[in-house]
Amino acid sequence: MIGKDIDQAIILLNKGSLVAIPTETVYGLAGNAFDEAAVAEIFAVKNRPSFDPLIVHTSDWERLSQLASNIPDAAHILAEAFMPGPLTLLLPKQNTISDLVTAGSPLVALRIPRHPMTLKLLQQLDFPLAAPSANPFGYISPTTAQHVEQQLGNKIPYILDGGPCEVGLESTIVGFENDKTIIYRKGGISVESIENLIGTVEVKAHSTSHPQAPGMLKSHYAPRVPLILGNIEALLEIHKGKKIGIISFQKTFLTKSPHYPIILSPTGNFTEAARNLFAGMHYLDSLDLDMIIAELLPEENLGRAINDRLRRAAVKA
Ligand code: TXA
Ligand code: MG
Repeated sequence: MIGKDIDQAIILLNKGSLVAIPTETVYGLAGNAFDEAAVAEIFAVKNRPSFDPLIVHTSDWERLSQLASNIPDAAHILAEAFMPGPLTLLLPKQNTISDLVTAGSPLVALRIPRHPMTLKLLQQLDFPLAAPSANPFGYISPTTAQHVEQQLGNKIPYILDGGPCEVGLESTIVGFENDKTIIYRKGGISVESIENLIGTVEVKAHSTSHPQAPGMLKSHYAPRVPLILGNIEALLEIHKGKKIGIISFQKTFLTKSPHYPIILSPTGNFTEAARNLFAGMHYLDSLDLDMIIAELLPEENLGRAINDRLRRAAVKA
């Protein structure tokens, strides 16, 4: 069921059930992070392999810092600037966080989402929420309550509807190795805005996967229909006559139907493009197309995170 009733979400979460929650990035599939049965249920509902750990969500820094230890200065600086917001910090975990949540890692991923409904919800709970994106493992992340309903509606009792996600890309995951700051997943906060604050950081692309499962998470965010990346005009020429969805950054392609164009941002604005990406992919994937053709954005700002999602959507499992 979809609704806006925070009290209903609280009742369900308190008794160990799962609830889909809105965040500014994407919708999450949330359960009590201190309840191993609820955490196990998250993995089951998502069909997610148990080696892929979950992000833990709290309402404020005080609660967040109680779940971690040895927090470096850079983490404090980043938290000050970007929390609440699309930033996840990887920090040494306290014992209150089970190995099930972190997939056996001594580090836990922690984040304070910026959505007012979910902040209110988190403030009223006595426990943090473990929440991956609310999509079946490997599929496109949801940016509306309706996306969640279509994908997982029959498996969870309640979807808290907070409207379309404002950012539309997952959080940027940042960790620390020997005093160095590392970006493990490009996301809603650009590499540039992090570097403006704390200086040069290392970006380790594709490395949020478990070391024992190299490359397994390379294909991700993928629609059911094949997605091909390249020069749109050239690809349309090659695939003439096919029923094609087009994802372009800002340009309109005047083509003969049956073509279904999505323009991410007519003015070339990265923030707008990020907000529209997953919704565009969901829409095109509902049309029973032969393929989706997409182009990469400039490798700067949020364009880097968008390109990461497009590249992984284009890899076939
Ligand atoms: O914006 C977001 O981060 C959304 C919203 C719902 O908060 N969540 C999200 O969760 O994107 P998920 O599960 O789809 O992606 C989390 C990523 C995974 O790639 C996982 O491997 C990584 O975070 N991760 C989580 N805990 C980790 C840990 N302890 N060590 C390394 N990577 C971790
Ligand atoms: Mg995900």
